[in-house]
Amino acid sequence: MSANKWDERYNGEQFAYGKEPNLFFKEWLDKYEPGTILMPADGEGRNGVYAAQTGWQVTSFDQSREGQTKALQLAAEKGVTIDYIVGDLGELTFAPESFDAIGLIYAHFDADKKAAFHQQLDGYLKPGGIIMLEAFSKAHLDFIALDPKVGGPKEAGMLYSTAEIRRDFGNYEILVLEDAEVVLSEGEYHNGKGAVVRFVGRKK
Ligand SMILES: C[S@@+](CC[C@H](N)C(=O)[O-])C[C@H]1O[C@@H](n2cnc3c(N)ncnc32)[C@H](O)[C@@H]1O
Repeated sequence: MSANKWDERYNGEQFAYGKEPNLFFKEWLDKYEPGTILMPADGEGRNGVYAAQTGWQVTSFDQSREGQTKALQLAAEKGVTIDYIVGDLGELTFAPESFDAIGLIYAHFDADKKAAFHQQLDGYLKPGGIIMLEAFSKAHLDFIALDPKVGGPKEAGMLYSTAEIRRDFGNYEILVLEDAEVVLSEGEYHNGKGAVVRFVGRKK
């Protein structure tokens, strides 16, 4: 979807994916001592704000200005601050090897940019840093066909596979890499049974 479409989705009182963090992200983030974390495609900030609540210094970005407005609202509601930049990853740069962690949660990038974006993000992570990723897998197309309320891109190229993760993050020690089925209950737009890829890796 274009930035405008995302603005439309976020331009309401409700939080499209709820205010609670993604459960897999929460489970893994909670295992680490807080440091600096980059939250690409953070949308309305449910994950970035959770990280800030647990002591992380959070830098979020997303192409949607409405996403930023909602995320800053949520941060204020929770009494925390996050740095939230509006922009497309293709036009943003961060300091090399400056983050202790990166949270890639349903960060579905355009198919033709995904691999290059992963490489770009890898450059921002410190050696020894952690990437935590949960996103819909290619098998998810079958679940969308059964029940579109589960959400997610309908384009195979925007969906994930474990093979792509191994290729894009070849220089990582793999802590988790799996295909899984989930039952999501995240706001209005992630509801029902779906197929995801999960990855936690430590940069060598
Ligand atoms: C499904 S939403 C997920 C939002 C958030 N991560 C969450 O889990 O609640 C996908 C987000 O990716 C953002 N996005 C997609 N491509 C992007 C890009 N190239 N640069 C910045 N944001 C992007 C969209 O604007 C949208 O907010």
